[in-house]
Amino acid sequence: MQETRAFPKEDGLENGLKVLREGYMYAPNRHKIYQSDAFETRLLGEAAIVIGGEEAAKLFYDEDKFKREGAAPEPAKATLLGKGGIQGLDDEAHRHRKQLFMSLMSKERIEIWSKLVEKHLLKATREWMDQESIIFYEEAQKVLTRAVCEWSDVPLPEKDVEKRTRQLVSMFESPMAAGKRHIEGRIGRKQGESWLKELIKQVRNGQLHPREETALYQVAWHKELDGHLLDEKTAAVELLNVLRPSVAIAIYFAFTALSLHQFPEVKEKINGENPYYLHMFIQEIRRYYPFFPFNGAITRKDFTWNGYTFKEGTLVILDFYGTNHDSRIWEQPGQFNPERFNDWHTSPTDQVQMKLVSQGGGDYDTGHRCPGEWNTVRAMEILTDFLINKISYEVPEQDVGFSMVKVPTIPKSGMVLKNIEFIG
Ligand code: HEM
Repeated sequence: MQETRAFPKEDGLENGLKVLREGYMYAPNRHKIYQSDAFETRLLGEAAIVIGGEEAAKLFYDEDKFKREGAAPEPAKATLLGKGGIQGLDDEAHRHRKQLFMSLMSKERIEIWSKLVEKHLLKATREWMDQESIIFYEEAQKVLTRAVCEWSDVPLPEKDVEKRTRQLVSMFESPMAAGKRHIEGRIGRKQGESWLKELIKQVRNGQLHPREETALYQVAWHKELDGHLLDEKTAAVELLNVLRPSVAIAIYFAFTALSLHQFPEVKEKINGENPYYLHMFIQEIRRYYPFFPFNGAITRKDFTWNGYTFKEGTLVILDFYGTNHDSRIWEQPGQFNPERFNDWHTSPTDQVQMKLVSQGGGDYDTGHRCPGEWNTVRAMEILTDFLINKISYEVPEQDVGFSMVKVPTIPKSGMVLKNIEFIG
């Protein structure tokens, strides 16, 4: 039997400020100092255990041991997540709601999504050609807002594109921000929810007729296990759970443009003989660059793992960034190397895997793992082909460094591109 041991413990009654000061490196720094996959700290007034690595991910996604109800902190619910959405559900209720999201992710629907991303990139290019330069991160947000609204059958009048884009962006840029940026996120969530509540109402009273296969239709007519429709607010929260993260792919778009700039040698390989190289390149972008730092769950019961005793009702946080950079999983994790995914190419988002956890780990169909992983990968593949083969552009002198403290982070310049032209 394994000996029990005490968690290494971080000093201090409240260490939330350290998380804000160290950002993506808060957890990996401590796992290294303590030489342990788990340590105890205090965050937002309560004790928390922070875990990292592949074995820790397996533990975190064990639904016998963890639940999500009550795990998300108030600042995240007021901005990123909203209340009553899938992220806080467990067991049957969760699996039932996950089916709603997975019903939107058939192969055909994901293909339509990727075609819409391409269509809106092409359309936007005609405007970009008239401008001396563009900030690609900001332009990508609008491209993705247009694409996801069309994909979801959410009406988006031209005059509202900027406003709706800003609202959606404010929700994912703000949960860990302070001051003005955080307040914008709270306002963005309120405005976004009232916009979509109104649309849900219009669908239900017959004023609006979205196609059956779209998110607006499916969310509006989704029945809970008790046979009732979702209340309007929860329906708006779930529709935002499609719209908001689809626009957040703009962050990966900025990192895709950056990686093509930093590692130009990949272009030839992407256009070369290995048909899987593009997948491998995208996987490496999702592993290498920081995005979602961590997520939390609550223990359902007392148990022992690796000699550590977890008490029922404890907040446990899984370090996504640190797991994606764990040298026990990834050889030379600090190097950008798409070839490391050579043997992953048959299944770029494996059904169950606990190594690449940029969008969570565990079971894609039934667990809390992100249902939008394929949409993300396909959109990035479309963008990569577009940047290499469809347009030419220059990357002028600029600060493309990115903060490891600001969450979510992007290249500081937002990726300025200039002299954009179609090729051929
Ligand atoms: C921008 C790229 C994206 C990133 C980095 C991302 C990341 C994540 C992460 C880390 C989780 C939490 C996993 C967990 O609870 O353990 C998650 C969950 C979720 N994501 Fe994504 N996501 C992205 C894109 C998308 C897209 C495109 C959609 C929908 C079209 C989506 C919808 C969701 C939903 C509904 C959940 C909650 C799942 C559940 O709790 O069962 N995400 N995502």
